[in-house]
Amino acid sequence: MTDESENLRPRHDLRAQDVTLAYGDRVVVRDLDLAVVPAEVTAVVGANGSGKSTVLRALARLLSPASGQVLLDGKDLHRLPTREVARTLGLLPQSPVAPEGIAVADLVGRGRHPHQRFLAPWSAADTAAVADALDVTGTADLADRSVDELSGGQRQRVWLAMVLAQQTDILLLDEPTTFLDVAHQVEVLDLLTDLNRDRGTTVLMVLHDLNLAARYADRLVTVCDGRVHRVGTPDEVLTVETVREVFGLEAHVMPDPITGRPLVLPLGRHARLARSEQLPEIPPVTVEGRVAAQAPPST
Ligand SMILES: Nc1ncnc2c1ncn2[C@@H]1O[C@H](COP(=O)(O)OP(=O)(O)O)[C@@H](O)[C@H]1O
Ligand SMILES: [Mg+2]
Repeated sequence: MTDESENLRPRHDLRAQDVTLAYGDRVVVRDLDLAVVPAEVTAVVGANGSGKSTVLRALARLLSPASGQVLLDGKDLHRLPTREVARTLGLLPQSPVAPEGIAVADLVGRGRHPHQRFLAPWSAADTAAVADALDVTGTADLADRSVDELSGGQRQRVWLAMVLAQQTDILLLDEPTTFLDVAHQVEVLDLLTDLNRDRGTTVLMVLHDLNLAARYADRLVTVCDGRVHRVGTPDEVLTVETVREVFGLEAHVMPDPITGRPLVLPLGRHARLARSEQLPEIPPVTVEGRVAAQAPPST
């Protein structure tokens, strides 16, 4: 998959221009200008209800803008043929619903629909894509099980497999790590990084964990009250001010001792109090991850 021709392929360009999004009369996203940078990993972060899922739904053509345009390769996304769109971008919604009683392999196989032709429904390429998707998401042993009877974490990985089987250049993922324990969260993010590096897949995902977002994304987009608040590298975006403005939360931000990316430590009321009473300044962390001021004396 690290074939050079893969990486030389022209990348698809997805962007929103001056987009307003509404449910009925209720406008929830305003003046959205957002270019999804091809072949990069972008994480969207923001408080609950700030409009992140709504933005993703518009970028995936599930929601028509009340005004403005979403453009795929310069063309109005909402006027392009459905199959063409589905071969280019895949969406993992925040709360997908599986048809009752469907088996895992059949659900994942649905990711192949945009690639299938009317009279030649199932090809060797489809079989290979489904097997690959089951394999990389660690769900091959669930293939014959009913989706209904899986745990939340298993189900989330099966949905991810369905989107991967679609083999699109652009992946839009709404909280892909929900329901996953920390090891599986890291595994999914590592997998998305592999796809990005090996195949040049463009990834735009909503994440709740700021530290994982900073660790895995090339670019962060913060959303606040239906508007893009900031866009930039994790270093540029993830500051004490951003956490305060976007989440109304006081935090300490320091370099992650492993990657140097920003690491956010939320200060609840109790930690804030402890800090103001005891610690004039939170001491820096050494490379080994020990708090320098409290490191045991060397013997
Ligand atoms: N289907 C819908 N109908 C009406 N209002 C909706 C719908 N979906 C979301 N909203 C509202 O739009 C706002 C943004 O929601 P959403 O995009 O889901 O936020 P987020 O993903 O950031 O939590 C919220 O106020 C939410 O209540
Ligand atoms: Mg959401």
